[in-house]
Formats: sequence, structure tokens, C-alpha cells
Amino acid sequence: MVLARPGPCENCNRVHFLPFKAGSRIRMPLMPDWSEPPSDPMLHKNEVHVWRAHLDCGPDLLSRLSQTLGADETARASRFAFARDRDHFVAGRGILRALLGSYLDQHPAEVAIAYEPEKKPVLSAGLEKSALRFNLSHSHGLAVYAFSCERELGVDVEAIRAEVAGEDIAERHFAPQELAELRGLPSELRDQGFFLCWTRKEAYVKARGAGLGIPLDSFTVSLTPGAPETLSAADGQRWTLRSFEPAPGYVGAVVGEGRGWNLLLWDWRPGQQ
Ligand SMILES: CC(C)(COP(=O)(O)OP(=O)(O)OC[C@H]1O[C@@H](n2cnc3c(N)ncnc32)[C@H](O)[C@@H]1OP(=O)(O)O)[C@@H](O)C(=O)NCCC(=O)NCCS
Repeated sequence: MVLARPGPCENCNRVHFLPFKAGSRIRMPLMPDWSEPPSDPMLHKNEVHVWRAHLDCGPDLLSRLSQTLGADETARASRFAFARDRDHFVAGRGILRALLGSYLDQHPAEVAIAYEPEKKPVLSAGLEKSALRFNLSHSHGLAVYAFSCERELGVDVEAIRAEVAGEDIAERHFAPQELAELRGLPSELRDQGFFLCWTRKEAYVKARGAGLGIPLDSFTVSLTPGAPETLSAADGQRWTLRSFEPAPGYVGAVVGEGRGWNLLLWDWRPGQQ
């Protein structure tokens, strides 16, 4: 069954739509599966695509990716004190460019990236009519990238680290309701609950593009592992929140504008550059 008309969407300059076969996606209610993507992935209006990629690339791939970076990104890479951090940044940006290039049908080096006042990256002048939206996040060698058509997005990934998931940090960053929910969890679920909360809050803040401009206690998310994701905010009706498992020991969350969109999770492979 064809779910969308082939060819470019009249509202989606440069983001081409191709037919998908029904049944080619498997989705779980809370933690969907990661799939190998089609060779030429296309974005439907009712979809949010999240890609995961490992940032420890070999030297050949890293070199190829580095050649696609813009001058500002290369300059930023040169300011990292540690080679590993620099290489992860280069890989992260190179893969972002490879993915943007494939959605926009452009060479990765030609994709122009600009920044909103609070540093959210967006497509730059010349691409402003494109309906493609994106956001990215990285943690401990793993990156996730979210894409949609016309829906603002925020995505976050975190490695679950017991040493970070302390009550003092939760007290500083979480709303009272979230703190109470965290304290009510059995101890073996607390680290996961902490990072479910953290990634959901970050994804919302990043969808709004607001950085530190949104008080973190001005909205609440659910955090009990296995329970439905909920977001309670003044503009909560505008957004849908989904969590996913990027890899064992990591949690991720994406917040996208609107309701009823499907989340597709894909593995990035070097051949997709
Ligand atoms: C800007 C911010 C959202 C980045 O989050 P982070 O966890 O440090 O880093 P992530 O790996 O998740 O995301 C980094 C990417 O976010 C993007 N980004 C930067 N500013 C952004 C903004 N205002 N909105 C959306 N995305 C942004 C960039 O692409 C960046 O990638 P880059 O390093 O290649 O430039 C974060 O620093 C911040 O301001 N958070 C406020 C909320 C907070 O304190 N939460 C605590 C936990 S509840």
C-alpha cells in the first residue's frame, strides 16, 4: 500500500516524498526498534525520523566527513583541547551534513547551517523555504539526529550514569512533581527515571530553541520507566513527546510539534554519506 504520493511535496520544497510499503515499519508503544533505512529515505509529513550514529569513526571516514564541514565548524573543531572530543565533534557535524544533504538532495558541504539567537542550528538563507526541520544531540560517543517536515523538533540523548543521577542534581533541575515521582521509584529504577526525565526536559527545551531561557520547573514530564510519556506545559498541546532507547545504557527523547506523527528510528551507516 502506498502511503504517500511519490515526488516532491508542494509544501515541502526539496524534501522529496516517496512511497513506503505498509508493514515495513515495526513500532513499539514506548521503545520502538531501530531499523536499517531504505537507501534513499524520504520524509512523510506525519513522520519524525530519528537516526543514531556512533561517533568513533576510523581515520578514513573521519577525514571524508571533515571535508564537508564549513569554515566555522572547522574553526570550532580546532578549539577542542582533546583529540577525542574534536573527532567526535567533526564526526557529529559531518554525519549531520550527510543526513541533511540526503534529505535536501544536496552535497553535504553545500548545506548552509545558521543559528538562532539561542544557538539552535537551522537551515540557512537559501534553504529557508525548505520545510525540513532538524535537531541533534550527542553523549559519550553516540549521536542522535531528528528530522521532520514542518514540525519544530528537539532531541536529546544521554548515557545513563549513576554518578550524575543524584538527588542534589534532581533537586536543582527538576520540578517538585518530577522529584516526587523520582523519589517514589524503587532504587533500581532511579537512574533510568532520572535520565528519562532529563532527556524529556532537554528535548522540550531544545524543541522550543530556548536554551536556558525556560525555567526547568515551569513544565513537567513523566519519568517512571515503562509508563506513558507525558508533557505538561503552558503550550503542551502544541507538542508530542516520545522516548526511545538509542543503545543499551542510553536513553533518548524527542519532542515534535503536533499530534499523531509516527516515530521511525534508523541506523546511520557510512555509505549514506
Ligand atoms: C543548549 C542545550 C539544550 C544543549 O544540550 P546539551 O545536553 O549540552 O547537548 P546536546 O548534545 O544534547 O545538544 C547539543 C546540540 O544541541 C544543539 N543546540 C544548541 N543550542 C540549542 C538550542 N538552544 N536549541 C536547540 N538545540 C540547540 C546544537 O546542535 C548542539 O550540537 P553541536 O554541539 O554540534 O553544536 C543545553 O546546553 C541547555 O541549555 N540546556 C538547558 C536545559 C537544562 O539545563 N537542562 C538540564 C537537564 S533537565
